[in-house]
Amino acid sequence: MELLQAIQKRVSVRDFTDQEVDPEKLERILEAGRQAPSAKNRQAWRYVVVRNAATRKELENASFGQEYVGRAPVVIALCTTNIEYKMPNGQLSYPVDLGIASAFMMLQAAEEDLGSCCVTTFREQEIKSLLSVPYSMRVVMLLLIGHPAGHTEGEQRLSMNRIVSYEHW
Ligand SMILES: Cc1cc2nc3c(=O)[nH]c(=O)nc-3n(C[C@H](O)[C@H](O)[C@H](O)COP(=O)(O)O)c2cc1C
Repeated sequence: MELLQAIQKRVSVRDFTDQEVDPEKLERILEAGRQAPSAKNRQAWRYVVVRNAATRKELENASFGQEYVGRAPVVIALCTTNIEYKMPNGQLSYPVDLGIASAFMMLQAAEEDLGSCCVTTFREQEIKSLLSVPYSMRVVMLLLIGHPAGHTEGEQRLSMNRIVSYEHW
């Protein structure tokens, strides 16, 4: 039940204080990302942690000027090493793998009383060259982490009966 409450508590935070993120908390968030499940346990993720203010400003520019990207004291670029592997259902595994990993990390951030927001609105090539990410890899998302500057109301979700059916569609 505590886990469900943490899931219900998490919201996307886009307003951060200047307070640094405790390195031990950050380590536990990265550990959550390390422990995430992945297709065939390929673990085709690599996490680039950016704390340098000038680099974060560049990330903000590459994210179409979304100010909160530069304001977050920690930005983790979630990258994948394998952009071609498909699961038996014919679908690419990396969006699923990285999506689950980011969810684990966001929940651990909430557990640490930190705010987080995943950002995918960016020019990938700019970020790749800024962070020296190899040509063969992709930057899937940026995960912003920091201390929330205020309270954020959660966004509405569809009702259970809109999204769940039993036994058949
Ligand atoms: C795959 C994905 C991409 C997202 N990209 C962005 C983004 O580029 N910028 C942003 O501000 N929020 C982004 N978000 C956050 C969503 O807008 C947010 O999760 C959604 O509105 C629900 O709000 P909540 O997280 O507060 O519950 C993204 C979320 C997901 C899951």
